[in-house]
Amino acid sequence: MLELAHVSFTYPEGKAGFAVNDVSLEVHPDQIVGLTGRSGCGKTTLANLVCGYFRPDRGEIRVGSQTIDGPTQRVAMVFQDDGLWPWLTLSENIDVALKAVPAPVHNTVEMLKEIGLEFAAELYPSQLSGGMKKRGEICRVLALEPRVIVLDEALKSLDYQTRCEVWAMLRRHMLRHPATLVINITHDLLDIAENCTRCIVMVRDAPMSEVDWRPDAELEQKISKIRSSILGAADA
Ligand SMILES: Nc1ncnc2c1ncn2[C@@H]1O[C@H](COP(=O)(O)OP(=O)(O)O)[C@@H](O)[C@H]1O
Ligand SMILES: [Mg+2]
Repeated sequence: MLELAHVSFTYPEGKAGFAVNDVSLEVHPDQIVGLTGRSGCGKTTLANLVCGYFRPDRGEIRVGSQTIDGPTQRVAMVFQDDGLWPWLTLSENIDVALKAVPAPVHNTVEMLKEIGLEFAAELYPSQLSGGMKKRGEICRVLALEPRVIVLDEALKSLDYQTRCEVWAMLRRHMLRHPATLVINITHDLLDIAENCTRCIVMVRDAPMSEVDWRPDAELEQKISKIRSSILGAADA
């Protein structure tokens, strides 16, 4: 489980006060949380806190019984920008991750096959399309078997079909590793409604709100509930 208890953070040079203000959240294994909210409300800052890249000024972040006080293999982040190491081939990028795991259950060839990239194993990132790079990057993250995967607008530039393939891969991974949970930061309501099991709307300097739906609710109902939650929050 991922637990945030009264987490606050201010940038040292931040003149506008709290970037993240008193955020509390519990995410259980197996959940895929869509996190949305207006630009500047603190989503990326929160992601950096969860990954241990930043330390909270107040409050605590735990994954299972471990307090997050620095980067850890238990939490992996994927950004919108390219994350593969350009000086390594696609398969070498994944191999490096597998070497960091004591008893890896994955292997590079199988992972690349699963996502339809076996033909690109020996290519360098500069030789891959954006969608191929992103799929490769997700493979590298999954190879690490993290408990928490944070996607910060990571799937934004993917075409719909590639995004579906990435989600299918993530869901298969979660079936194999039931302790895994995902935080999906996005402005794409359809992505949240289709792929997430929960949705949280973040508002600067106000408590976060959970959109009230059941995971199996109809797509249109989910989208309309997220929309009214965001717009309602803007009016507040
Ligand atoms: N490196 C930084 N230094 C100072 N302030 C920052 C920095 N990064 C972000 N901020 C500020 O923190 C707030 C939250 O930013 P961010 O977490 O990037 O929001 P979001 O991802 O929701 O768009 C914004 O007011 C932003 O201007
Ligand atoms: Mg951001």
